[in-house]
Amino acid sequence: MKNKLEKLRADFLQELGQVKNSEYLRELELKYLSRKGELSLIMGELKDLSVDLRREVGELANKIKVELQTRFEEVSRQLAEGSIKKELIDVTLPGETLADGHLSPITLVQNELEDLFNSLGFMILDGPELESDYYNFTALNMPPTHPARDMQDTFYLDHKNKEGQYDLVMRTQTSPVQIRSMQKYGAPLKAIIPGRCFRCEATDARHEHTFYQVEGIMIDKNINFSHLKSLLEIVGQRLFGAGTKLRMRPKFFPFVEPGNNGEYTCFLCQGKGCRVCKYTGWLEIVGAGLIHPDVLRAGGIDPEVYSGLAFGFGLNRLAMLKYNISDVRLFNSGDLKFLEQF
Ligand code: PHE
Repeated sequence: MKNKLEKLRADFLQELGQVKNSEYLRELELKYLSRKGELSLIMGELKDLSVDLRREVGELANKIKVELQTRFEEVSRQLAEGSIKKELIDVTLPGETLADGHLSPITLVQNELEDLFNSLGFMILDGPELESDYYNFTALNMPPTHPARDMQDTFYLDHKNKEGQYDLVMRTQTSPVQIRSMQKYGAPLKAIIPGRCFRCEATDARHEHTFYQVEGIMIDKNINFSHLKSLLEIVGQRLFGAGTKLRMRPKFFPFVEPGNNGEYTCFLCQGKGCRVCKYTGWLEIVGAGLIHPDVLRAGGIDPEVYSGLAFGFGLNRLAMLKYNISDVRLFNSGDLKFLEQF
């Protein structure tokens, strides 16, 4: 019991030494000195001791009680007088500055395209990343077993329809939103659709399983190839400078007819040929074409009345070219050394 008392004394004095405000002092009083405090508890045990011991320990307990109370009152008085430094918060001290975040280069290019197309009267739309096989392929003229499906290695979800076919995919392109937006808004329609896409790629410096595209569609009466050409020219000049030229070469995409690959003069060598353009002078950046009549029909639009154009930019590709980024895998790496440069 003597030990208990000594320990209580030491604890109390130690805590008392840290008192900086009256709330804390009051807490100490309750914990140690009040009627139900620790000191009273120990003193309550005195009655169980032998008479001799009781006298000895009782004396010690009383001595400690007096000492603790005196020290308590001293501190209490000092606190009231202000001779103990109260806890101070200096509101004029400068705060901790939080580092600003950085927009990813993909977002920067996306913002630039959104600004441009907004100024041309295009809506900016969105679509689901988890897509049905129907919207991602079938409605775009790629029914099951169509060989063009091989152009896009696909992540299917482990989910089958009533016929036993896998019917949900991580979208391989933003093109399914062409159909969705036609169904929702009808014609005429002008929209771009930026978004994330997925393909089951073996990754390397130019291929990534998760990447971004910006789809564009424009549907109205008498939309023709010259509209497509001028739109793509405007984009090239906006992103890569006024002197940028466009060349369009035929390419097969099942959902456009005719279809083509849009290529821009290499911004680095101005068409002379260099490492970036693989010495061709041209950079392949956008798939495009006039929307196939069946695709318009799938979207509920009459191809006898309306025609349309569609294009799809690879956003990672655009950002790589614009900011001279050599490896597409950097975008998903989460590496701050990379991101903080933008
Ligand atoms: N969706 C095509 C792709 O991912 C690009 C494209 C879009 C082509 C629109 C034509 C029209 O390769």
